[in-house]
This record gives sequence, C-alpha cells and structure tokens, in this order.
Amino acid sequence: MLICPRCGRENPEDAQFCNGCGASLATCLPPGAEERKVVTVLFCDLVGFTARSDQADPEDVRAALHPYHTRVRSEVERFGGRVEKFVGDAVMALFGAPVAHEDDAERAVRTGLRVLEAVAELNKEAAVLDLAVRIGVNTGEAVVALQARPEEGESMAAGDVVNTAARLQQAAPVGAVVVGEITYRATRDTIDYERLKPARVKGKAEPLAIWRAVGIRRPLGAEVERLPAPFIGREDDLALLKQTFARTLRESSAQLVTVTGEPGVGKSRLVAEFRTSLEEQERTVSWRQGRCLPYGEGVTFWALGEIVKTHAGILESDGPDEALEKLAMSLTALVSDPLERDWIRSRLAPLVGARTPEAAGTVEREESFTAWRRFLEALASERPLVLVFEDLHWADPAMLDFVEHLVDWATGMPLLAICPARPELYERRLGWGGGKKNSTTIALSPLSTEETAHLISALLSQTVLPASTQRALIERAGGNPLYTEEFVRMLFDRGILERRERVVHVALGVEIPVPETVQALIAARLDTLPRDRKAFLHDAAVVGKVFWSGAVSAIGGTQLREVEEGLHELARKELVRPARSSSVRNQTEYSFWHLLVRDVAYGQIPRAARAKKHRAAAEWIEGIAGDRITDHAELLAHHDVQALELTKAAGADGGLAHLEERTRRSLELAGDRAMQLDVRMAESYFRKALELLPPDHTGRVSVLTKAAECAWLSGRFPEAERDYEQAISALRTRGDARGRWSRHGQPVIGPRLPRENGAVQGAPASGDRAARGRTPGARAGPGLRPDRQGHDAVGAKQGLLRVVREGPPACRGTRHPRCSRDGPAVPGICPV
Ligand SMILES: Nc1ncnc2c1ncn2[C@@H]1O[C@H](COP(=O)(O)OP(=O)(O)OP(=O)(O)O)[C@@H](O)[C@H]1O
Ligand SMILES: [Mg+2]
Repeated sequence: MLICPRCGRENPEDAQFCNGCGASLATCLPPGAEERKVVTVLFCDLVGFTARSDQADPEDVRAALHPYHTRVRSEVERFGGRVEKFVGDAVMALFGAPVAHEDDAERAVRTGLRVLEAVAELNKEAAVLDLAVRIGVNTGEAVVALQARPEEGESMAAGDVVNTAARLQQAAPVGAVVVGEITYRATRDTIDYERLKPARVKGKAEPLAIWRAVGIRRPLGAEVERLPAPFIGREDDLALLKQTFARTLRESSAQLVTVTGEPGVGKSRLVAEFRTSLEEQERTVSWRQGRCLPYGEGVTFWALGEIVKTHAGILESDGPDEALEKLAMSLTALVSDPLERDWIRSRLAPLVGARTPEAAGTVEREESFTAWRRFLEALASERPLVLVFEDLHWADPAMLDFVEHLVDWATGMPLLAICPARPELYERRLGWGGGKKNSTTIALSPLSTEETAHLISALLSQTVLPASTQRALIERAGGNPLYTEEFVRMLFDRGILERRERVVHVALGVEIPVPETVQALIAARLDTLPRDRKAFLHDAAVVGKVFWSGAVSAIGGTQLREVEEGLHELARKELVRPARSSSVRNQTEYSFWHLLVRDVAYGQIPRAARAKKHRAAAEWIEGIAGDRITDHAELLAHHDVQALELTKAAGADGGLAHLEERTRRSLELAGDRAMQLDVRMAESYFRKALELLPPDHTGRVSVLTKAAECAWLSGRFPEAERDYEQAISALRTRGDARGRWSRHGQPVIGPRLPRENGAVQGAPASGDRAARGRTPGARAGPGLRPDRQGHDAVGAKQGLLRVVREGPPACRGTRHPRCSRDGPAVPGICPV
C-alpha cells in the first residue's frame, strides 16, 4: 500500500497517482521497502558523563544534555546526515540513507570535526558542563529500511558497519574523531589524517586499522589538486571552446557554453585545458570561477559569491567588516561613478557574507541581478572575461535564472560563461540554453577504448598491464576517465597491482571490486531517481548489462508502455542507452551506460528480492524462447542458480525443493548446449547440477554419465572412471539390469571402444594410472540419449578400463591443439 505524501490517502501498491488528490506517487515507497546501501555511521559519546550524573537529579542531567544534543543534531543535519538515535549520552548518526550523496563519508567526518568544535564552544559558554567526547566514523554496507522513522524509535540501518562504528568510537582517544579503513580511503584527499595504532575490538579477530582525523584539507568548494594524467583525446571539444571564445572576442558579445556529461567524464578537465591553452597563448583574460555546491540550503548563489570573493581577494576566514572593506576597495578600481559603486557594493555584499546598512531589508531580485551583471560587465570591460559556473546541475533555480539573465542582457562586452554540468541540469531546467543564438552545448562522450588504454598506460607511467587485467579495466571503466583513475589507484591500494622497478605485477585470481569513490558516485546518482525509475534499473540490473524492455516489464509487473517511457528517460540521463536494433521482437533492447551502474544498482537489491527477480527473469526467458529453449539454456541456468543461492542465503525455505529441481534441469540443459561448444564449460554445469542431485535421485545417472564424458574428453580418466562407477552403482541400487551386467565385464551395446593398435607414446613408465590415462582414447558413444544412459555408462567404463590397461592409441592427425602426429588421440576430433 502507498500512502500519498500530499493527502495521506492509502493507494494500491502499483498506483502511479493518488486516487484522492491525483498527486504523483512516483517517489513513495511501499512499507517495508529495503535497500542495500553503503552508509557512513557516526557514533559520538560523552566521556565520563554517566559517572558524573550518577547522583544528579534527572532534570539537571536532561538540562545539561539538551544543548549538547541540539548542537549535535544540527551539525549532523547541516551536512545532510540523519540522527538515528540518542542512547543516553551517545548519538548515532547516519550518512547515505535514505538518500546517498557521493561524499557521505566526507560529510560524516566533517560533522565529527564540527561536533568537537561545538563541544569546545559549549564548554566555553558553560564551563561547569566540562563535556568531552569520543567519535567513531565507519563506512560499509548496510540494509536500510527506507521508510523507517528514527524519530519514532525505528532503526534505519543494520549491518556490521554499525557495530564497528560503535567499537571505533570506544577505541577513539578523548576529543578525537577516529575513522575506519573505508572511510579513510574515501576521504583522504580532503581530510588530513594521523595513523593510530591498530585497535583490538570486541568481535573482530584482527585488530582494526584506524586513523584520527586532524583537519580539513581544503575549504568547502575548492578543487582538490592531484597530479593529473596527460590530457587525452577531446580535440574537437577543445576546438569548439576555443572557437566560441574567439567569437566572444570578435563580436564583443556574451556567449554561453554548457559542457555536459556524466560524472567524471572530463568536463572540468576540458575547461582546465582550455584555460591552460589561453595561458600558453599569453592572452590577457580575466578568468573567474565559482562552484555550485550540493549542500543545498544556505549556499544560494555560492558560485557567484566565490567569483566576487576571488576578485576582491576575500578569504573565508575574513570577518564581515574585513570582507566589506576588501569589496569596496576592489570596486573603487572598477566602477568610477561613486553612486553606482555604492549601489553595486550594497548588492554584492550579501554574496560575500557581509551587509551594508543601505541594503537592510529585502531587495528586489531584479535589482540584485542588474547590479551583479553590472559588476561583471565592468570586469569584462577591462579585459575579456571568462566565467566558469562549475557543477551547474547543483545550482538552485535562482542561480540558473541569473546565468540566463547575464547572457541575455550583457551586451557590448567580451564575456564567455562556461557551465560544466551533469545531465540532471536538464531536469531542473528543461530546455536550458535552448533557442538562444549565443548558446552552445558540448556533450562529452566516453573516451574510446584506445584512449582509455592510453590513459591507463599514462597512469601507470607507461608500464604495461597484462592483457586480461587491461581488458577488465577498460570494460569496467567504460571510457570514463575518473573511473579509470580510481580503478588504477584502487588496484595499487589493495595490493592487486604492485610496481617492482618498472614492471607492474598483478595478483592472480583477484576479483576487481568497485572502488568506494565510484560506488558512492553512482549510488548518489541512482538516489536522485524517482522510485519507479530506480525500480526499473534494479530490474534491468538483474537481467544483465544488456536487457530488454519486456524483461523489465515482466520482472516488475509494470505495463510495457510505462517501462519504455521510463527507460527512455533513463537514457536521457545517460544511465542506459538503447541499441539500434533489438534481438527480441517488439521489445527495445538497452544496455547500461556503464557496467558499473549495473553493478551498483544490482548490489542495492536485498537478497530475497533479488532471488524473486531472478526467478521472474528466468520465466521471462522461458516465455520468449519457446521451443528454442536450449539455445537460452545457459542464461536460464544463470538466473535459476542465482535465484536458488540467494533464496538459501536469505534463509527462506518455501519452495526450495521446486527451485532446486528447476535449477538442476536448467543446468543440465545448459551443459547439453555447451557440450557442442566448450567441454570444460559443459562439465562445470553438470558438476553444479550434481551438487543439487541427492544420491537416490532418478536424474543423477544421466548427469553423472554426462559429467563423466566431459572428464573423459578432457583426458581426466580417473575422474571419468569414478563418475561411471558411481553411475553404475546408482543403476545397481535401483536394480537396473544394465548395472549388474557390467559387473561381469560383459561387452555392451553402444559405445565405440578404443582401437587397440596404438601404444601410449611418451606416457610415463610408472604404473600411475592417472598419469597414463591423461589422454583420451575412447568415446562414450555419439551423444547420450537418456534411454541409453545406462549402456553408455557401462560401455564407457569398460572402454576406459581398457585404455588404462592398454594405453590409448596415437593420433595420426594434427587437428587437435593438444595432440600432434605423435601424441595421443582425442576421440571424435583426431582422425584415428
Ligand atoms: N581527456 C582526459 N584525459 C586524461 N584525464 C582526464 C581526461 N578527462 C578527465 N580526466 C581526468 O578524469 C578525472 C575526472 O575528470 P573531471 O573532474 O573533469 O570530470 P567531471 O566530468 O568534471 O566530473 P564531475 O561531474 O564529477 O564534476 C580527473 O582526474 C581528470 O583529470
Ligand atoms: Mg567537474
């Protein structure tokens, strides 16, 4: 049931609009909705307060704690966190749930540091309080109850991350913020840390690596300096920027360039490269840059404020009077008319955190806009002005209005406004920049595979990765330079890559995880989506990197038309992209823009829901495959196996037997299909099926003989023999005549026995049967039909024993890579 957020009416779960007031229900969640999320948990506890309050009157204790609680709550909320609970004098706060931000870990540590300051301020105000705190911050995966109401005592997040945060808090020195490893890795570019001795904590076998946050490395909003890799590709985009600038100069006009693209694709870098090119040409331009911040309230027009502050040389640490003075000084040089200068100064003052007596009271927005524009025009009249409004997708509507006002009204001055923005900008302001003749859009696409390879090589200082690691990296980074950088960095951090002299070594068999920074970035993007759109992505993620609208519709039980609409919108947001043609009739085929988006979306689905969705995906495949089901058997097996494993992991046992039976069948079918193409793959399907078959199951003999044949074809005779033995013994147990027959070594019908004319060449002289039997010499008959399975098993075993006894024949052909004219034969392949 969905409760309408506007009128409170209860609506059916699949309702899109409220039956009472017609409001959209796209953002409502059904009760009990859960999601797996990476969250950051902050625990803050007062030191020694319990002991001091031992004899105190409860009212005094509450009065003493009240200001502390209020301050902690306000700091948590200022940074977009949520107070989960107060337990006595301890506070637990959550960052990243219900809605994730890309910098939740940083927000939590900043909050911790602010709380320390707040406690010092409280002590200053009332020395009698004598408060001291310890703070622990930890990041990790949790199951989040999206509709929990912490204010009513309901817990929102559960998982080890919460317990460990509490333990970290206990291990923290008094007056310190201590963080765990994942938090450290996600924030080390912006927070200064001191490494502490690893902490032994209850419930953990190994001591935990911990760090103490000592300060913030950059003021809010400034860029982090990292030594960048050389600029790769993007020649056309850079050329377009230069041309537009040339036009600004030629026409003395205002031009707007919006640079759009998904996070990390290189918008800011492109602009930085443009700036470098201007510097290299030694052009005299004023370059002023300001960033829109994601923190929401209290930062309206922050970007413009930064521009004014930079121009006037105002520091964040300057007080209001100092700021006003600097502003006045900078305007003296800029605006000659004293009346106009005072007017501009009073309108600019609020942007730099100061106020003038003349500007007290509310000011008309139009008037402010005009004054600000006049200021920027004055700047541009001195020399060409480039204004960069970074991250415009975070700008509030008023800021967007101002940028439009500026480029519409500024005339007769060379002024270029560059606005890097993610695609969300177009949701905030539909048709941004459209229809203006002085507006250009540069949409950045992902780097090509060659360019990404080039970037990887540059990041590794020209050393070369093993081809398979390189391929995996390129695939997962999907042409996004930021993802590429973060992957390479993570591989070194986790010891997966190791540089010894000039050679990079790769740890074998290690799965490449998603770096926390990238995961947080993507999770934050997904959390900006309405509920139904995000649900489409979850359903699509279950299908895989490539998916079809019909599959999403079937899994989520939503009308195809609605799904098509939703996917179209997600494509506009650069989360998925449609394929030119579809491999399923009447359904649009899509793929995720990035494999990583799929991975993150998939990882958010709780296990029980994931299992259900996999089952639905399997059913959808059965529906579209019809008679050609064998062709899709491997896909089917994948979904069935996932559904089964996840159902078991989630602890549900209803319908498990049915699921096991179905999975066994699809695994066998998948094995049959793979048999034509890849024996090793086929064998792995049969072996998985065997794990699901109890010894007395009637289907076991069939799968055993198939697995045996695979082992046989791969030349692993002892294993083949073992499986045949088992098959025979199962037949015997069932009282099947064929099983008894073999016991007497009678010849059997069916299999083609090995020829007897060749001795093993080059086989070890020892009596090691396994070694001698490593090459095959016989075949268990042409394909295994169920009605012949017993004969096949028996015959193949007999053939096997014979080969082991006499050795396989030599191969007379050269068609098989593993044998030569002199080597042993491979049945069915070598022309023996
Ligand atoms: N063409 C390129 N060649 C080499 N490195 C690049 C290129 N483009 C981007 N990078 C690097 O990738 C990282 C991310 O780029 P950038 O910060 O410009 O992304 P963005 O699109 O501005 O992302 P966001 O939306 O988060 O602001 C940076 O470290 C940048 O130096
Ligand atoms: Mg950027």
